[in-house]
Amino acid sequence: MKAIRITSYLAFALASSFGMYAAAQMPPRHPAHRPPHPPHPPTAPPNGVKPPQFGDPLPGLTKAQVAIFLDGKDDFEAPETEASGLGPIFNRSSCVTCHSAPVTGGAGSINVTRFGRTDSGVFDPLTSLGGSLQQEMEINSVLHEVVPPQANVVAHRNSTPLFGMGLIEAIPDDQILQNVRRTPFDGVLGKVSKVADAASGKTLIGRFGWKAQQATLLSFAGDAYLNEMGITSRLFPVENAPNGNTQLLAQYDTVVDPEDVVDPVTGRGDIDRVADFMRYLGAPPRLPPTNSAAAGRSVFQNTGCAVCHVPLMITGPNKITALDQREAWLFSDLLLHDMGALGDGIAQGTADVREMKTPPLWGLRASAPYLHDGRATTVDDAIKAHDGEAKAAKDRYLKLNKQQVQQLIDFLMSI
Ligand code: HEC
Ligand code: HEC
Repeated sequence: MKAIRITSYLAFALASSFGMYAAAQMPPRHPAHRPPHPPHPPTAPPNGVKPPQFGDPLPGLTKAQVAIFLDGKDDFEAPETEASGLGPIFNRSSCVTCHSAPVTGGAGSINVTRFGRTDSGVFDPLTSLGGSLQQEMEINSVLHEVVPPQANVVAHRNSTPLFGMGLIEAIPDDQILQNVRRTPFDGVLGKVSKVADAASGKTLIGRFGWKAQQATLLSFAGDAYLNEMGITSRLFPVENAPNGNTQLLAQYDTVVDPEDVVDPVTGRGDIDRVADFMRYLGAPPRLPPTNSAAAGRSVFQNTGCAVCHVPLMITGPNKITALDQREAWLFSDLLLHDMGALGDGIAQGTADVREMKTPPLWGLRASAPYLHDGRATTVDDAIKAHDGEAKAAKDRYLKLNKQQVQQLIDFLMSI
């Protein structure tokens, strides 16, 4: 197979784009961190220090914060019951059911289903028929929600890992905005997702979910409690009616809303505790790079992957020290991209039917299956499905020789 030949123009453009990126984004207190290429993520801890594991809290939390992390983890793992408000329609009874691999807070192979209808290019989420998210379970079989016959789009969404979510939440909006290009670069533009954030009441830049549909962990927790478990909260007080049938809902919804009971002393409910668990959950641990993985870092950059899978962003000033101006080696620009045939056909918030958010690639070795619907069992399959704005990078990937592919995969499995 022919080795990749990257034009010197592109190599220069990529290098200078990283240079610009580094200059624009690094806070001045890290002057040493301004190389033209981002270095390989730092790895091996000093001698005698236990290497971090998946599921560890962020390094540097106070004792009180670790206690809050563990408390929230309990809620994340606790199954809801009919008495605590589960349903009437729901997908699973606890967060951990879908976010468990390789440990609590991780990814999972469970998919949820979204449906809608596209007529003459206009997408309708069929809200009055229970769309766009289907709840596939119920507390009584008469409530069973189906994909209605009116739907002509059905898409599946795979459960994503939640490691390092607090760092992602702490990245300032303007850093994400800076990733947007005014003119296409290597066929890539990118677009921010603008979200009316339920928790803060502000318009913020979305960064969570396959469509960047939520901006804060508290809002995502409230959304997930409602839409995955049927637990209403102060942020999302209205139950989902099965296929839109409000009469059936009224008959079976016996627990008083909001079901997420707020502790009168602390003013906090499950959504707050679970949001804190996710906020304090550490980033995926990196593996020390082998020679092959170290070489794969350049392949990643030269192939154009880093144009969207931006290696590093820095959190803003934060009152939580462990999140204050920290490096987040997430490998994502947190932008929406037109992915052509890989789009899922569902419009959601700012994201159009073909647009998907660049998923962070950290922790990839523990988050199979890949892509929004989990269709890819290997990273190779996932890359080959790239299309639209990622077509140029995908085409370059297809021209890599066997050794370069292996180096790239080894790199991806080490971050
Ligand atoms: C039925 C399975 C299921 C359950 C139960 C579930 N999730 Fe998820 N979770 C998913 C799926 C699927 C996605 C991706 C959804 C999307 O983007 O459309 C997701 C995405 C997320 C994300 C976004 C992460 C990212 O990559 O940006 C957060 C945060 C999250 N879930 C938190 C929770 C919390 C908190 C709970 C419990 C209250 C919960 N989830 C319960 C399936 C589930
Ligand atoms: C135009 C921006 C863009 C470029 C360039 C790009 N990607 Fe992606 N990548 C995405 C988006 C968006 C997704 C999610 C697509 C989906 O599932 O619908 C994705 C998904 C992935 C996934 C699956 C992640 C997961 O958690 O399921 C991997 C692995 C990946 N990309 C690697 C690469 C590699 C390697 C390259 C370079 C050959 C590359 N990407 C180039 C935007 C891009």
